[in-house]
Amino acid sequence: MMGKRTVILGIESSCDDTSAAVLADRCLLSNVMASQKVHEQYGGVVPELASRAHQQNIVPVVDQALKQAGVGMDEVDAIAFTRGPGLLGSLLVGVSFAKGLALSSGKPLIEVNHLQGHILSHFVIEEGKPHREPQFPFLALLVSGGHTQIVKVNDYLDFEVLGRTIDDAVGEAFDKCAKLLDLGYPGGPVIDRLAKEGDSARFRFAKPNVPGLDYSFSGIKTSLLYFLRDEVAKDPDFVEKNKADLCASFQKDLIDILMKKLLLAVKQTSIRQIVIGGGVSANSGLRSRIEEEGRRRGWTTFLPELRFTTDNAAMIAAVGHFKYEKGLFTPLDVAPVSRAADLNMK
Ligand code: KG4
Ligand code: ZN
Repeated sequence: MMGKRTVILGIESSCDDTSAAVLADRCLLSNVMASQKVHEQYGGVVPELASRAHQQNIVPVVDQALKQAGVGMDEVDAIAFTRGPGLLGSLLVGVSFAKGLALSSGKPLIEVNHLQGHILSHFVIEEGKPHREPQFPFLALLVSGGHTQIVKVNDYLDFEVLGRTIDDAVGEAFDKCAKLLDLGYPGGPVIDRLAKEGDSARFRFAKPNVPGLDYSFSGIKTSLLYFLRDEVAKDPDFVEKNKADLCASFQKDLIDILMKKLLLAVKQTSIRQIVIGGGVSANSGLRSRIEEEGRRRGWTTFLPELRFTTDNAAMIAAVGHFKYEKGLFTPLDVAPVSRAADLNMK
């Protein structure tokens, strides 16, 4: 006889996407997302507007996730939610909703670190699709709008951060570059698209010089700013005339910076299972560089499906699944945590 399957409801509200998902024994039954368009006109996420939109979206999104999965609350074993890091007002909506639902349904709560979610998104199983999983220990390059880290993953819930950015995240560098080039928000996807038509060898910007496995992305952004200021003083149409080359060159520099430390981490740890995750792991230039280096160096590489690169609740439910198996539940007086440094990675 087959044992009872483990059903986890995941809830994600750390930034500007409200999402709910249902996993049964890690198989994806639903993954509903409501993205917030309201921020585009402001050129960035406006925290007050984000929390209000989460407030409007959360009930219908969770309701739809359960309906699409064909699962009632009585069949759910636990409610996994993002405790942080993220915007406090956004996190509060998901955390409060999860608590209310736990209280009314009598189901246990499981807190999830959003960054672990991005990494463990590779363990979500999709029916009808081939499934490959990294073997432990593996290295994860976590690249998002708020974070840039190299993480050694020893087991499902055993993470060691080997390096992190000391200032901006790489996604922020993409977004700030897009702002300087007047490309709208979020800028990463636009730069990615324009870079394909440009010459990446045309311009070079200042590279950081940070010891060990840490990153820095504030210098390259400033370097672009000064370069544009000087060039626009000579020719007011400089940006317009060179947009694609600027995007291709800037993107190549960012990827070079990311790869340099990743290669060092591989050398130091001798680990050849490489995973990427987070919003910037959607970048086509980064994806092909990882694959290329992987082929050349004998790595086994894991690139997330594009729909798992952005913030989603399926990855939160995946972490919830592994915590459920270990009986790691969270008390009802839990509060959100906005900073990664204040959250336990275990
Ligand atoms: O993980 P994510 O959805 O949110 C955070 O947790 O931060 O990451 C969002 C970031 C933004 O900075 C966005 O510009 C970037 O991911 N991004 C990309 C691409 N798609 C999204 N950056 C470069 N190329 C892309 N194709
Ligand atoms: Zn994220």
